[in-house]
Amino acid sequence: MKFLKSVLMVSAISVTVSLTLLQAGVEQPDALKILAKDKLKPAKEYTMPANCISSDKKVIAIGEYIFHNLNGKKAKKKPPVGLSKTQMKPGKTYKPGDKIPAKQYGNCVACHNIEGAVGAGNIGPDLHNYKKHFIDTKARNVQYVYQQIADSRIHDKDSRMTINLTTGLFTPEEVCAIASYVVSEKK
Ligand code: HEC
Repeated sequence: MKFLKSVLMVSAISVTVSLTLLQAGVEQPDALKILAKDKLKPAKEYTMPANCISSDKKVIAIGEYIFHNLNGKKAKKKPPVGLSKTQMKPGKTYKPGDKIPAKQYGNCVACHNIEGAVGAGNIGPDLHNYKKHFIDTKARNVQYVYQQIADSRIHDKDSRMTINLTTGLFTPEEVCAIASYVVSEKK
């Protein structure tokens, strides 16, 4: 009995020791560092570039594709001319044969309904007939639409919309293409 007791004690100690060693060896991700990295840059006001809003079908097609798709991996149809399904990470060098990551799009349909949307969300306002309801009535102007897509926090500090230009997700030209699509006359 005494022997069994000491065997049990020894094994209990060794379990504790190995658990402690294991814990010390396992890398603990620093949650604060992750949060700091994910922290958004402060809200920024933008002036829409000259000739930003286009009625060119090719530009509108780019905006439409970005609006309706999540990323280059999930997108079903071929992207329009001038838009790629992949995008190199800025600052990273790629050797021939390296896999270039899928490009992220806007996935605006996750929150907004609009002409031709499939399974649209209703977190944001319905953007059907946006031109007729918002632009033609002068309730909004195109600069407002550009700013909303670029960084909506300028309009509402508690905005629940994604931030697209300040985060570097899109270029000013791409924001213009998306805005051109939103304000375009649709069939
Ligand atoms: C996570 C949900 C969400 C996503 C994704 C989203 N939006 Fe929004 N959007 C909103 C909400 C909510 C509002 C209402 C105002 C606010 O919260 O900023 C809004 C407002 C807008 C407006 C202003 C409508 C008005 O009042 O005139 C436009 C235009 C717009 N969004 C376009 C887009 C486009 C384009 C995309 C994709 C690049 C997009 N949104 C992605 C949630 C979203």
